[in-house]
Amino acid sequence: MNYRIFPKTGEKVSLLGFGCMRLPVLDGDHARIDEAEAVRMIRRAIDEGVNYVDTAYMYHGGNSEGVVGRALKDGYRERVFVADKLPLMHVHTAADVPKLLDEQLRRLDMAHIDMYLLHDVREMSWEKAKKIQIVNILEEKRAEGRIKHIGFSYHGETLALFREIIDAFPWDFCQIQLNYMDTALQAGVEGLQYAAGKGIPVVIMEPLKGGKLTDALPESIRRYWDGIEVKRTPVEWAFRWVADFPQVLTILSGMSSLAQVEENLRILSDVDANMLTEKERTIIGRVADAYNALTPYACTACKYCMPCPVEIDIPGIIGLRNEATVFESVEKVSFSIRNFVRPLPSECIACKQCEEKCPQHLAIAEIMAESAAMFE
Ligand SMILES: NC(=O)c1ccc[n+]([C@@H]2O[C@H](COP(=O)([O-])OP(=O)(O)OC[C@H]3O[C@@H](n4cnc5c(N)ncnc54)[C@H](OP(=O)(O)O)[C@@H]3O)[C@@H](O)[C@H]2O)c1
Repeated sequence: MNYRIFPKTGEKVSLLGFGCMRLPVLDGDHARIDEAEAVRMIRRAIDEGVNYVDTAYMYHGGNSEGVVGRALKDGYRERVFVADKLPLMHVHTAADVPKLLDEQLRRLDMAHIDMYLLHDVREMSWEKAKKIQIVNILEEKRAEGRIKHIGFSYHGETLALFREIIDAFPWDFCQIQLNYMDTALQAGVEGLQYAAGKGIPVVIMEPLKGGKLTDALPESIRRYWDGIEVKRTPVEWAFRWVADFPQVLTILSGMSSLAQVEENLRILSDVDANMLTEKERTIIGRVADAYNALTPYACTACKYCMPCPVEIDIPGIIGLRNEATVFESVEKVSFSIRNFVRPLPSECIACKQCEEKCPQHLAIAEIMAESAAMFE
């Protein structure tokens, strides 16, 4: 396994981190983790050098933390950084923060959490975090020894907000979504460089775009990969692209089988920063362009269509609808929409106010109806 240095303490962090949001499940039920298999996978990864395990209050319907806690019994706890996240969506008053942290430590059955993040910081949740002065509460918890390092995970819409958050507190680390398709989404590559420029190491989530940059490839995309002399799987290319940035502390991978653990251990033991050649970078860029060319609806996410009277996230839904075609991933998008998106596209009332404002003249009501039929 390759390691990078956590600047605050000089400790080594494995380049592959275990993301515990996509553990194997029973009967396709996201809340029912196949615990025996998950424990086997997590311990196997640690035995091979992984020392960063990431979970959250919400993952697997609230069951990920418990499984992680049990996987880390028998001496495994001491070998890893445990990362867990304060679910801002459940924080309404300052008193909720210690209550939630207590519950998380109980679920984990641990005395402390090493890396504690404000979960899913974005426009609204950041306002709330500031109002409640959550970071001051976390400082108190750190002084009590219940958490060690304080960070945040970012899913806001703009780089500007990411910069504001970075500048607002001396964070020990932060976490962003990054892969070769999402270079300018949310924080993006610029955000990675901004954080690192301030001495804040960056943990990467969704390096495979939630599993879309894997083997199920449209023919037009496969042709580009086949054009590279060095033969690697699409998964390996995607990991290599992220690992190439020296600013990355660890790459969290959600893994749902032991075979994926083995493959990702192999890949991330074999790469380091600044290893991609110019030619390889160009091909990866062409693959991203080829994916984008498959987009069925020309939404630019300008948001002129917003606000929607029933509060549907119109650009978000169209983005997911596009992804379903581009990545031939209707099942994965359905999962995201059913579990994480509210209001649902079927709640569209077809008032068409949005269509009058859309510069691309998209038939938004029709796209919502189509999305409801496809995903719900
Ligand atoms: N803080 C936040 O707001 C936040 C948000 C998202 C994620 N995260 C964290 O970041 C971690 C990583 O993100 P992610 O799980 O969303 O996305 P990801 O790592 O980009 O994708 C995970 C999926 O990739 C597929 N995969 C992994 N290794 C593979 C391999 N070797 N071959 C083929 N397919 C492979 C699996 O898909 P299948 O299961 O379909 O096989 C897996 O479920 C999460 O697990 C979580 O810990 C945090």
